[in-house]
Amino acid sequence: MTAGPILDIEALGRRAEAMIRALAAISAEEGRITRLYLTPEHRRAADLVASWMQAAGLVVSEDALGTVRGRLPAEAERQGANGARRLLLGSHIDTVIDAGAYDGNLGVVAGILAAEHIARSRGAMPFGIDVLAFGDEEGSRFPATLLCSGAVAGHFDPGALAVESVDGITLEAALRAYGGDPGAIAQAACDPAEAAAYVEVHIEQGPVLEAEGEALGVVTAIAGQTRLSVTVVGEAGHAGTVPMALRRDALAASAEIMGLVEAIGRDNAADFTVATVGKLTLSPGASNVIPARVVFTVDLRSQTDTVREAALTRLRDGVEAIAARRRVTAWMERVHEVGATACDAGLQAGLGAAIEAGGGRALRLASGAGHDGQAMGRLCPIAMLFVRCRGGVSHNPAEFVSTADMGRAVAALIRFVEGFGG
Ligand code: HGY
Ligand code: MN
Ligand code: MN
Repeated sequence: MTAGPILDIEALGRRAEAMIRALAAISAEEGRITRLYLTPEHRRAADLVASWMQAAGLVVSEDALGTVRGRLPAEAERQGANGARRLLLGSHIDTVIDAGAYDGNLGVVAGILAAEHIARSRGAMPFGIDVLAFGDEEGSRFPATLLCSGAVAGHFDPGALAVESVDGITLEAALRAYGGDPGAIAQAACDPAEAAAYVEVHIEQGPVLEAEGEALGVVTAIAGQTRLSVTVVGEAGHAGTVPMALRRDALAASAEIMGLVEAIGRDNAADFTVATVGKLTLSPGASNVIPARVVFTVDLRSQTDTVREAALTRLRDGVEAIAARRRVTAWMERVHEVGATACDAGLQAGLGAAIEAGGGRALRLASGAGHDGQAMGRLCPIAMLFVRCRGGVSHNPAEFVSTADMGRAVAALIRFVEGFGG
């Protein structure tokens, strides 16, 4: 790839840093970053992102699920033509609870800065550019995830409108309160004939790039993911009078199941399988009462879908056996599932050339984290540019990306766009 005009990495990094800081200041909680889908904080972040898109010279709109879209029309569209192919950029602006500042947000910031550079340096490309700021990737508020990107990809499940949030509100009610329109979700879908590619800049959320001394890397594939809710029902009883052999202890049974979850992850490490219990509730919740009911989450991921399916079968069989032996009732429900998603080889090569034009090695690596690209992969070819983050730490306020690395990422994205064929 011929290097484009010299890009000011430092200036691009400083711009990105200022935008990241501005988004990080928008949180539901004092002193930490928590910005959940369809909340007042989401609204403020969406409005801020829309203002940046406007200032960058993009045509701004918002779809029925709250995705903010900044469009740079294609050359032909500026002459009045319709239906141009378009390159989709972006990521998510929602966060986990007590989040870092860069997860998702960096992809939106990089997309805006790249589109702005193209608008100012070339006016337009032969293809359109859409920068997308998705409002729900994390699934931190509703037991569903990738809702916004799924809708843009044309695969929104209307049944999701009935799911209830952690604060007991249905998605539909929250959407209406936010000003969204459940009846217009279908219009959020991008026309597959126009969607040339989706490319996302995202922090690696792992230690590989830092260990390799590389600022940027090219993602080969995104792990498949199943999120489960496991419920175990036993019998409450007096902690002092019920002999151990006669108990139907829901928490002790859950603990054995959680041990199995961990063993399944360890036994399939060769396929980068990971298994996590991240949330647990129990009742009645008194120190002198044998727990009667436990509900906990399981997050299971593998690079290969057949490995993940076999792991789920082993877990299901184990839950049944443990429940029978402990005389409790237990079941697991799939809350979310997305298959492993390969990144397009041609787009990977384009990102690799853009990284090399900036002096990098264009390392290839897999993603254990899930991303909007998994939903967008049902619409068009996808690719991801990973950015080094300190210690590989993420989903943690200690998450950090240097200004220089952010500048390198934006510059690589600009070079990718300038070299993209549409
Ligand atoms: O869970 C994930 O992998 C992503 O951060 N939502
Ligand atoms: Mn993310
Ligand atoms: Mn995340």
